[in-house]
Amino acid sequence: MTIDTHTLVKSKPALGVESPTLENYWHPVAESAEVTEDRPLAAELLGKRLVAYRANGEAHVLDDLCVHRGTALSLGWTTPEGCIVCPYHGWEYDGGGHCQKIPSLPPGARIPSGAKVRSYQVAERYGLVWVSLSEPVTGITEWPSAEWEDPNVKIFYSHRYSWQASAARTVENFMDLSHFPFLHDGMLGSRDRTITNAYEVTQTDYGFYYDYIELEPGGVHSPADSEVHWEYFLWLPFSVHLRKGTSDGQSTVVSLVSSPTTDETNELFLFISRNYDQESDDQSYLDFTHVIMEADRHVVESQRPVPLPVELTEELHLRGPDAAALAYRRSLAALGVFS
Ligand code: FES
Ligand SMILES: [Fe+2]
Repeated sequence: MTIDTHTLVKSKPALGVESPTLENYWHPVAESAEVTEDRPLAAELLGKRLVAYRANGEAHVLDDLCVHRGTALSLGWTTPEGCIVCPYHGWEYDGGGHCQKIPSLPPGARIPSGAKVRSYQVAERYGLVWVSLSEPVTGITEWPSAEWEDPNVKIFYSHRYSWQASAARTVENFMDLSHFPFLHDGMLGSRDRTITNAYEVTQTDYGFYYDYIELEPGGVHSPADSEVHWEYFLWLPFSVHLRKGTSDGQSTVVSLVSSPTTDETNELFLFISRNYDQESDDQSYLDFTHVIMEADRHVVESQRPVPLPVELTEELHLRGPDAAALAYRRSLAALGVFS
């Protein structure tokens, strides 16, 4: 279904949540391998300090704040019973955040009912630990065409970046195809061909989709001047899968999941998949993407205001080249997550 982007995502699946905020979505806070049984890990999401730890194979995420005196639990350690221990006075909390032991009280003494910290819903997928701070209203992003499960596709976790920029600005940059000829001249576009033709944005149950066909500028992974099919799968609010398809059937998907550590910073988890050249080292693909991402970071970190203005009267939009950005801003505004 192709729709007028003015009406995009008016009908948010509420799933029982009246006014969802960004807390009602899944965001990755760490790589699974970082969350060990040995020591807790500090993390941050939407300005909230969190601690992640693993007990009996299961990842737990709690507020990184001991209710006794506000100490960071991430400074503590874990027990074989699956608790996290505050380093200050040794209170022990289980994975649900309930205090199980207060060493300064005699054996058998009642543990106060208020002795607990908030724990959050956790899911592990794609090698990442995902958290929803409140009841989730959607699922975790999925790869287009099920690349994740396809044995003919090689997929690897490429890199993690920390940007001094809002998640929404970062995602909008990743979706913006009209900057390719300019900022990525010779790599993703050419300054000899700067015009962006009109393209359609289509609503989906996860967000929206759009695609665009142009000629390969640099011939880095496909012959110069061959046709390239760019496809964008935007999972609201902060995940994008960008597929580059060539006329000979090669498909490369660069997937970005942005996690809003604060309103003005974000962590980017990047994956790259390809259905060709599987024997080669992944490094050249990582290196290529890294050059692109660094050019983007330089620009995006300069943007002001840092939060993405979702009111369309702010900043100046072009009908045509900015269709995806307009759809994104309207979608975020319609979700109400920035209000
Ligand atoms: S501050 Fe955590 S046990 Fe006292
Ligand atoms: Fe870019």
